[in-house]
Amino acid sequence: MSTEQTVKKITVPILSAAKKKGKKIVMATAYDATFAALFDQTQKIDVLLVGDSLGMVIQGHTTTIPVTVEDIIYHTRAVSRGTKRAHICADMPFMGNKVSIEKTVEFAARLIQDGRAESVKIEGGKNIAKTVRAIVDADIPVIGHVGMTPQSVHAFGGFKTRGKTKTERDRIIEDAKAIEEAGAFALVLEGIPGALSGEITELLNIPTIGIGAGPHCDGQVLVGYDLLGINDRFKPKFLKRFATLADDIRDAIINYADEVNDGSFPSEEHTTEIKKR
Ligand code: KIV
Repeated sequence: MSTEQTVKKITVPILSAAKKKGKKIVMATAYDATFAALFDQTQKIDVLLVGDSLGMVIQGHTTTIPVTVEDIIYHTRAVSRGTKRAHICADMPFMGNKVSIEKTVEFAARLIQDGRAESVKIEGGKNIAKTVRAIVDADIPVIGHVGMTPQSVHAFGGFKTRGKTKTERDRIIEDAKAIEEAGAFALVLEGIPGALSGEITELLNIPTIGIGAGPHCDGQVLVGYDLLGINDRFKPKFLKRFATLADDIRDAIINYADEVNDGSFPSEEHTTEIKKR
């Protein structure tokens, strides 16, 4: 596939219109320029999310909580260098959305200005609706995120499906409506039953993007490393691996080490010699 073709940039209005057109939104996470370019060159990925999942995938933490605004800015800049077509969304990290409305607007502005994101994603429902409104009023597009929001892992007592009881279900529906009313242009639904995400998708005018939320959403998102099978220590029920790259990577590393050890690499082909005159 040529990397030099002129491409049509995916914008917020295109994503907003997708639901009415019945066009699914395809979203994946990326954290660096090389992976961003690979995803983007396919011209199949509508949104590249620089998720705070980078805290677990890249930094090796057990939750997303240690991730900072600076981390997200650093990785978003890298992703922006590798991306021509996909819309780039940057995650608001833990507490970035809760210190004060003014501070959150400032963080959102930094993700756009310094990170070169084109929208921000924020976890939370009714409790952050005013903050979402303030960011949208500052002309920064927002993707909401409700359900099993990983930044609330301690409050929830683990990464468990939410919305199985009536109280939780009603709360998630209220949260989804509040975020739409606050002006978000799309909403991530994470870790909730398929029927509930179907209900929310019907209720809202903005597109829903699911992860661990069944097939009824207007789009889907997966962590890039997970869908490629690079992280083979993580296999929740909702995850489908579309490749098994962890095996390929280990094989390649073993072959490299073996060839260094037996002297077959580097060969003549990989060696520059001074030509004799
Ligand atoms: O941080 C992340 O990668 C996310 C998605 C999985 C929705 O929030």
